[in-house]
Amino acid sequence: MRTQVGIVGGGPAGLLLSHLLHLQGIESVILEIRSREELESEIRAGVLEQGTVDLLMETGVGDRMRDEGAVHHGVNLQFSGRRERIDFADLTGKAITLYGQHEVVKDLVHARLDAGGQVLFGAEGIELRDLDSDEPKVRFRKDGEEHALACDFVAGTDGFHGVSREAIPERVRTGYERRYPFGWFGILVEGPPSTEELIYAFHDRGFALVSTRSPEIQRLYFQCDPEEEVTNWPDEKIWSEMHARLDTDDGWTVEEGRIVQKDIVQMRSFVTEPMQYGRLFLAGDAAHIVPPTGAKGMNLAVADVRVLAHGLEEFYGSGRTTLLERYSKICLRRVWKASRFSWWMTSMLHRFAGDNDFQYRMQVAELDYVTGSRAAATSLAENYVGLPMEEFAAEEQRSAREGVR
Ligand code: PHB
Repeated sequence: MRTQVGIVGGGPAGLLLSHLLHLQGIESVILEIRSREELESEIRAGVLEQGTVDLLMETGVGDRMRDEGAVHHGVNLQFSGRRERIDFADLTGKAITLYGQHEVVKDLVHARLDAGGQVLFGAEGIELRDLDSDEPKVRFRKDGEEHALACDFVAGTDGFHGVSREAIPERVRTGYERRYPFGWFGILVEGPPSTEELIYAFHDRGFALVSTRSPEIQRLYFQCDPEEEVTNWPDEKIWSEMHARLDTDDGWTVEEGRIVQKDIVQMRSFVTEPMQYGRLFLAGDAAHIVPPTGAKGMNLAVADVRVLAHGLEEFYGSGRTTLLERYSKICLRRVWKASRFSWWMTSMLHRFAGDNDFQYRMQVAELDYVTGSRAAATSLAENYVGLPMEEFAAEEQRSAREGVR
């Protein structure tokens, strides 16, 4: 079996890469360990930056997102019994779209299969070989048979627990990590929404978040012990904790409904450097993890893939490797800024065990400042809707100039 780009992992990063390459006439094969059903039902966050939305629309995979996604022009920060709105439209002229990650995955799988793309589900025992040669290979097992996929390049888009990152020799990679001493207890709720726009709440019992998946489904979270078990939380106890952290004195209360799913999300920041080794390019969670507080996970994956697709396009179009060589450097600038934003939001909005009242008052003062100062609110807003892809554009122009010389 042979292809131009072997893609290990069929999440949003791998699928979108395959789609973008296809539009440029570049062939790829996606290997995904899970079945299509498992992949399409994995519930993750659902906040899409404006740039992510624009890219999906421009490349023809955004129709359902446009019809079913909800455009939000701001978010709320709640603290000290107050709720303050950050107005994205006013501060940045941009918006975010709420549309579940698994919905994006469904749309991309559909587009790939429709165009005759190869997505091999249930590919097990994946091993990457000869990454520092011109013909890397991906070995895998499917339906009990061994296969080898020979390619020009390998994209490692198999998530934090995938095999791609670890295929880079330890001596040339460095991992930077921060683990947070709490998790998020998440629920999916059938019933009417509590609010039109997201509410991020800082309460002395801990953080809580009100989000949505559709007009009929709410997604709610509260900060919990990372060792917590969902079985310790019957529905009544969950609702009582939600009310305690979210309800306000003016009579607003979180809307209860039927809880259809409970899960616990672990919180960590992680970045691996570099994101490339030989002919292997990491993208998305395989290279970096952010805590969900800034809603950046899938957006970062999309930004990586966009750079990688341009680099490969340049290579197949002209033989130049300028952009591919800069891939890691270009991506990491954005990755670190998104990591900083996610870390900052997380630090501002959670209770840390052992913190004293001074620390608590610092957090309240920070929220008061962020919601009261136009400069500070703009900083939050521009990060939330997504920083511009400037660095990338500058590198691309540089590469084009070098190509002309
Ligand atoms: C979600 O809807 O799951 C969600 C929204 C915003 C976040 C994190 C998760 O910051």
